[in-house]
Amino acid sequence: MTATYRRLTHADLPDAVERAVAAFGTPRGEETVAQRLRERVEQGALVGLEEAGRVTAHGAVWPADHWIGGRRVPCQHVASVAVAPEDRGRGAGTALTRHILDEGVREGLGLSLLFPALDGLYRSLGWEQAGTMAWWRLVCRSARVAGPALRRLDLEAAEDRAAVRACHARYAAGQPCLEDRDDATWARLEDARFAWGHPVQGGAGGELDAYVLVDHETIPDDWRYRLRVRDWAATSPEGLRALVAFVGGHGTTAADAVLRGPIPHPWSLVLPEQDLELTAHFHWMARGLDLPAAVGARGFPPAVRATVRLAVDDPQLPAARGPWELRVADGRGELAPLAIDAGEAEVHLDATAVGPLLTGHRSAEELVLAGRASGDAAALAALTAACAGPQPTLADFF
Ligand SMILES: CC(C)(COP(=O)(O)OP(=O)(O)OC[C@H]1O[C@@H](n2cnc3c(N)ncnc32)[C@H](O)[C@@H]1OP(=O)(O)O)[C@@H](O)C(=O)NCCC(=O)NCCS
Repeated sequence: MTATYRRLTHADLPDAVERAVAAFGTPRGEETVAQRLRERVEQGALVGLEEAGRVTAHGAVWPADHWIGGRRVPCQHVASVAVAPEDRGRGAGTALTRHILDEGVREGLGLSLLFPALDGLYRSLGWEQAGTMAWWRLVCRSARVAGPALRRLDLEAAEDRAAVRACHARYAAGQPCLEDRDDATWARLEDARFAWGHPVQGGAGGELDAYVLVDHETIPDDWRYRLRVRDWAATSPEGLRALVAFVGGHGTTAADAVLRGPIPHPWSLVLPEQDLELTAHFHWMARGLDLPAAVGARGFPPAVRATVRLAVDDPQLPAARGPWELRVADGRGELAPLAIDAGEAEVHLDATAVGPLLTGHRSAEELVLAGRASGDAAALAALTAACAGPQPTLADFF
């Protein structure tokens, strides 16, 4: 049967809402589901697979930049893939996802990122776990450290909003794979009840080297409240210490603070004891799309010089196979097609090795251990050194 991949329109919405509700449930009500899908249609982000005149699968797909190695990499976001229970198990989810990745390659996007509800489907198409999103809890009284005070911010004021965004951009540039947030994501975060920031020492105007956006929550059977940190960033030792001291300063009336952050968490370096507790974490997945675009966009460690001949075993994307020559120097990388047989490459990568390698989540040697890569030890070590960096993390669920 021929299937058509297309953008869904307002006319498709009633069916899409029905499918989404049947697939994901309605923890926040059907109207919220409908509103979200309407926004996706208006954004041109809702896509579907039509078979015999009927849409059997839909999903959301849109571009977003993520910071890797201090540079922005154009990426694809995939979310909300849904097949109605009566249409499952016949390949609709797989077929839709294949179209989505072909589209990402046509658009010249470097990596495709998603939060999987199941790994198997996506792994079979070349995605692999490539970083974490982690939730932490800190008992406020454990955070009693000396630190500079924060200034109250007014997120209704354009200057304070701009200062928060600028601080985040500086923080995110050093923290793979944080998103270069769009206005809609910022609008959701700027909805926080409280905001504080730490002014840059000796800085002009309202420049910040740390900020924290906070809501208060009640805790069942506890008279104290919880600080829910909606977002935070720090770009200097004073700023980082100021954030921890800020939480410690709440210790009389707030029981704890919950926040996101990478593994390991930077706040642990300021806390006197091991009281920052990892409460949950989730692995998001990544897949290589246009590989020269991904390599050309991301930054590499400036001290690394490497040349590696590699081939990618990618059954879904013939264009990704190479063989390639990866050249890394002066903090930049280039992936150029190489006129050799795949057998002559120094390193062979499974399609699922590319995402975790390019985000820095896995070393080439770990991928060898899992049977996802093979090759010359020196070339594998060079690949590891070139792609290494802080553990990749995401702070915004999509
Ligand atoms: C996940 C979902 C999109 C799959 O759609 P589908 O059309 O049934 O998928 P396919 O027929 O293409 O199956 C592809 C693979 O997915 C995996 N898969 C599908 N349903 C699965 C399930 N319930 N549990 C575990 N794996 C499953 C299998 O590996 C399957 O391959 P196999 O049949 O060779 O074993 C569909 O079950 C769904 O809408 N679920 C609820 C929403 C959801 O979880 N979405 C994913 C968001 S990231």
